[in-house]
Amino acid sequence: MKLCMIGTGYVGLVSGVCFSDIGNSVICVDRDVNKINNLKKGIIPIYEPGLEELVLKNYKNNRLKFSTDLKNSISKSDIVFICVGTPTKKSGSGADLRQVFNVAEEIRSSITKFKIVITKSTVPVTTGDDIEKIIQKKVSKKLFSIVSNPEFLREGEAIRDFTYPDRVVIGTSCKKSNTILKNLYAPLISKGAKYINCSRRAAELIKYASNAFLATKITFINELANLCEKLNINIEDISIGMGLDKRIGGRFLRAGPAYGGSCFPKDTMAITTTADKFKTNLSIIKTVIKSNKNRSTLLLKRVFEILKGKIKNKKICFLGVTFKANTDDMRDSSCLSMIPSLIKKGAIINYYDPTGEKKEFKNKKNITFSKDIDSAIKKSDLIIIHTEWNDFKSINFRKTSLNKNVKIFDMRNIYSPVKMKKQKINYFAIGR
Ligand SMILES: NC(=O)c1ccc[n+]([C@@H]2O[C@H](COP(=O)([O-])OP(=O)(O)OC[C@H]3O[C@@H](n4cnc5c(N)ncnc54)[C@H](O)[C@@H]3O)[C@@H](O)[C@H]2O)c1
Repeated sequence: MKLCMIGTGYVGLVSGVCFSDIGNSVICVDRDVNKINNLKKGIIPIYEPGLEELVLKNYKNNRLKFSTDLKNSISKSDIVFICVGTPTKKSGSGADLRQVFNVAEEIRSSITKFKIVITKSTVPVTTGDDIEKIIQKKVSKKLFSIVSNPEFLREGEAIRDFTYPDRVVIGTSCKKSNTILKNLYAPLISKGAKYINCSRRAAELIKYASNAFLATKITFINELANLCEKLNINIEDISIGMGLDKRIGGRFLRAGPAYGGSCFPKDTMAITTTADKFKTNLSIIKTVIKSNKNRSTLLLKRVFEILKGKIKNKKICFLGVTFKANTDDMRDSSCLSMIPSLIKKGAIINYYDPTGEKKEFKNKKNITFSKDIDSAIKKSDLIIIHTEWNDFKSINFRKTSLNKNVKIFDMRNIYSPVKMKKQKINYFAIGR
């Protein structure tokens, strides 16, 4: 099938390349000329395991193309996927849908034969209705069908998640579109993905409900970790004991820093705004948002306790600054609030991240980037393990080059407290 992905970010690029890999002809379009020129040269704009090889392979065999020409790319395609960003509005409430509606206006001027227009971007319930109205202003209803097909991939596992999804959700009441899309996804369905056809509004809500639920799970275990700290109980035992119950499941049940990234913070806010608009109160999700905001403050309080209230001129090293491991995504990383707060209190920050230096911290006072783990942790008073990259899982903290009184705050519980105690290392973790 001939597909066009509008927006070549995490979702558009990954799903575009994966669709091309299962035999479709795909054009990935972006308004960012630099991004598209780089992709044509084989330079991948994001860090995502396995992505580069797959892009190079499919670009070489001509199934995958890159373009900045939206109109031409749409007119050559049968199915158009909207994969642009839906960030939180500047006002702080609800999703900013300007990118989606701009694209809808561009699409309507390029439709001359039947096209399926799919929102893969995460959009609030009833956005599909709005897109339909925009296109219908200039195009006959017979020539297009608006479908919701939310994306559930996780950064860092995106290729695997796209290729082996738990489910494919298709929100449409149009039989023709449903048949075509079932066919498009047939290679994934044959590998075990469940195919769900529901109303467009239900599909839109499934995405928000799923993200809000996962954010709730993380927040739930984070709060329990606080209780475990008071009672001298290991939170890992609780996670395992609860997670083995199939009704609960162990994933997203590991205590750590506040949840971040490009999805959970904005999607939890957007779903509560939608509920408010329709005069229902999603009070659980509102509490989750509040608790998560408080999480970084709580962890900072622990840092103060670990350093006995003496932050000024203390050398603090962060290992990993993205919102989680295996991604270069800094969006809503808890580091973005914790690091500036520590600097404000007089700390001197040094950080290392396997995905390199971050523009968010470049040319800022009292923060430097180290090119490797050894030079990052050297001379530190406190090492904070902020993400769970494999690279951080077997560091020799007993090296003579390290400050002998160095303290370690493992925010991901990747080391054993027992082993650390045996090595006489000042080790602090979460909920244990
Ligand atoms: N990142 C994730 O893990 C993830 C997972 C599932 C769903 N989503 C959802 O998918 C959507 C996209 O997220 P993302 O992380 O890929 O965003 P992104 O910011 O990485 O990419 C969006 C791209 O769209 C491009 N764009 C914007 N307007 C355009 C236009 N008019 N024409 C062409 N290109 C345009 C931007 O230049 C950018 O490259 C969001 O709604 C997000 O919530 C994201």
